[in-house]
Amino acid sequence: MVQASYHFPRGFLWGTATAAYQVEGNSTNNNWYRWEQDGHTKGQAGLACDWWGGRWKEDFDRAAEGGQNAHRFSVEWSRIQPTPDTWDEDALEHYRNMLRGLRERGMTPMVTLHHFTDPLWLYDRCGWEQADVVPLFEKYVRKVVEALKEYCSYWVTINEPNVYALSGYVAGDFPACNKGLNVGMKVLANMVRGHAAAYRAIHEIQKEARVGFAHHHRPMVPRYPWSPLDRLMRNIRYGGVNMAFPSALSTGVMKTPVARVQIPEAKGTQDFLGLNYYSVDTVSFHIGKPGELFTHSEYPADADMSATNFLANIPEGLFDTIKWGMRLFPNIPILITENGVEDAEDKMRPRYLAQHIHQMWRAVNFNWPVKGYFHWSLVDNFEWERGWTQRFGLWGLDVETQKRIKRPSADFYAEICKENGLSSEMVSKYCPEVFDKLFPV
Ligand code: FCB
Repeated sequence: MVQASYHFPRGFLWGTATAAYQVEGNSTNNNWYRWEQDGHTKGQAGLACDWWGGRWKEDFDRAAEGGQNAHRFSVEWSRIQPTPDTWDEDALEHYRNMLRGLRERGMTPMVTLHHFTDPLWLYDRCGWEQADVVPLFEKYVRKVVEALKEYCSYWVTINEPNVYALSGYVAGDFPACNKGLNVGMKVLANMVRGHAAAYRAIHEIQKEARVGFAHHHRPMVPRYPWSPLDRLMRNIRYGGVNMAFPSALSTGVMKTPVARVQIPEAKGTQDFLGLNYYSVDTVSFHIGKPGELFTHSEYPADADMSATNFLANIPEGLFDTIKWGMRLFPNIPILITENGVEDAEDKMRPRYLAQHIHQMWRAVNFNWPVKGYFHWSLVDNFEWERGWTQRFGLWGLDVETQKRIKRPSADFYAEICKENGLSSEMVSKYCPEVFDKLFPV
């Protein structure tokens, strides 16, 4: 049997990613709580992973013992600024404690400033639809960065603006004030402006800051490559989902399938590119979907599907995602800010992990500037509208008892982090079914 190892450069960041609403629990002052109360989610977040109650400590212990040297978490705007005119210093102290907790465990922190949730006071005035969200966001960012800068220099301004805008304003799965593609694109433009303002504000406050955003990139293929219509639909959808926000950062013009918006101040506002990668979409024409510009996306019939059919395991898509990022933004570091799969029984996760890390290794070996990987997620957490039905954790969570249950992938990932690489031995131990793919004779 082949014996080999795929190694990563020294100093590579290995971590997991989480988001405040999904792990903290008792987070009742934001639009997602209301969305839950109105019955739009499968179950309720409740205590979630009880990080607000302090269980981040035991979970950070698990991460550190598992060899992780980094962690990405988000701070909750609605806790820090519960009303437009008040700041909650205790909430900021809570996050300072978490950051000290990471530092004490030898882990590099990365903080996300906006991860899907909005304070109710902002949501009630239609938040990101209004132009004045930009100074409001900047004010909040300044407050947070002043308070946390002692311990953190990696900042993600906004998580997945495309998912926020499209899942809410177009698909209706996330809370949104008014609906429609045009509203969604207006929201996206304001997010670009908010990001650019935050980028400058953070650099004013902290010289050594590294600021980026986390982009959800979906590679797409036409269902029938020979069909001009499917190819056209693929390009339209690709433009809306993948290109709108990044195009503004690369050129100063936000290009969407329905508009071009000049946002010159956004050009170049990135010190690194954060990429969230999960799967590849197959796109075709669909007469019944005018709201999505007649595009329809699905997974190939023969795909390796995840437990709840949410994702197809298509690891090459991560390689393509990195290549895309590198070409659009030459010369800035890339961090994989999320990648993972929902899999309560941990049947697919070990191979998903191995195959994606292998694709990332391929990219690194072209000398493409990938500097770290954050697996989604450390422990099962409240998965937005899909609630507790999807389990993304390396560790399982018994929601009733708060007990953590270690999945084989937690041990597998620990071996990867400690080795700073993926070996044939690990693959034969945790996912022998893909051994020949990863280590061909
Ligand atoms: C991403 C989100 C993250 C989590 C994963 C599974 O789109 O950023 O919060 O829900 O999907």
